[in-house]
Amino acid sequence: MAVGTMKETEKKDILILGIESSCDETAASVVRNGREVLSNVISSQIATHTVYGGVVPEIASRKHIEKINQVVREALKEASIGLKDLSAIGVTYGPGLVGPLLVGVSFAKGLSFASSVPLVGVHHIEGHIAANYIENKELEPPFPCLIVSGGHTHLVNVKDYGDFEILGRTMDDAAGEAFDKVARAIGLGYPGGPKIDAAAKAGDPEAIRFPRAKVTEHEYDFSFSGLKSAVLNYLNSCEMKNETWVQADVAASFQAAVVDVLVENSEKAILSLKAKRFAIAGGVASNSALREAIEAKCRAHGVEFYRPSPVLCTDNGAMIASAAYYEYRNGIRAGLDLNAVPNLKLGER
Ligand code: KG4
Ligand code: ZN
Repeated sequence: MAVGTMKETEKKDILILGIESSCDETAASVVRNGREVLSNVISSQIATHTVYGGVVPEIASRKHIEKINQVVREALKEASIGLKDLSAIGVTYGPGLVGPLLVGVSFAKGLSFASSVPLVGVHHIEGHIAANYIENKELEPPFPCLIVSGGHTHLVNVKDYGDFEILGRTMDDAAGEAFDKVARAIGLGYPGGPKIDAAAKAGDPEAIRFPRAKVTEHEYDFSFSGLKSAVLNYLNSCEMKNETWVQADVAASFQAAVVDVLVENSEKAILSLKAKRFAIAGGVASNSALREAIEAKCRAHGVEFYRPSPVLCTDNGAMIASAAYYEYRNGIRAGLDLNAVPNLKLGER
């Protein structure tokens, strides 16, 4: 196509500011053309919530309010751009905690109104999936993706940018939630995922045979609450019998049970969709045992395996900016009536 006939948006780089505040990270990032990160500023509240053993929504909202202005300013500064250089502002508007979401949404709306830069509302899970585009420039839909985080466990067929089919999901706890609860029960702090991951390296994954729950009616669904109870029962029964339990063995055996079911359902999806590529995303996707197990399964089936670096697995603004880019290119814009939707479904607007 001759340059002269290109539309304005196709001619220049598309710079998007992504804002994320759905849980306990205040994050902002500038991404060029959906895949090139110019800045990625993350202010984590983990230290604050550790004292309480989990995220306290009211405290999270207040911390977001304290940090958001500074985080967004830093993201623009690090990218060496001003508001006028942006093509759009992408913001997570759901799912998540309503108070924290509202901080990001209100801030983004104010910024959009003041600068006349268009606003794009982003689904948090769509953001997690898009984290894979950032470091894998060649990755294009379609591909199935396992999204495992503190709030979500979804097996999704990414048919196209912005077009998702949910194959399966958790019926109860999210995988990350199970990691956090079990970590607490065995005396590791919050957030439990990374601590179990580290402790498990010194443990025996076969020391205790914890259940691998199957949801018989829906082959791609997951259930983790029974596993969590099984761990608690095991600890109680040891204590009642005056027997000691080994933290590293419980961590490794629990992790093996989670990984087994995540891998089994992922493999089913790969085979039934005859997938050529498979991706993982979300905080739990940085788990070393899960990464190794899925990678091995993909290799065995000749499937290309994609996963973001750990810093892009947990909540960040770059994944929101990347997802916003594809929505923006599809002509999606939000108005100033954009609201936080705590239980937003994937694929809904
Ligand atoms: O994606 P994320 O930052 O936030 C949500 O959208 O929920 O995920 C946070 C979750 C927490 O439950 C944390 O324990 C878990 O991801 N996580 C891990 C690991 N790193 C973070 N779980 C298992 N292994 C890890 N290495
Ligand atoms: Zn997340």
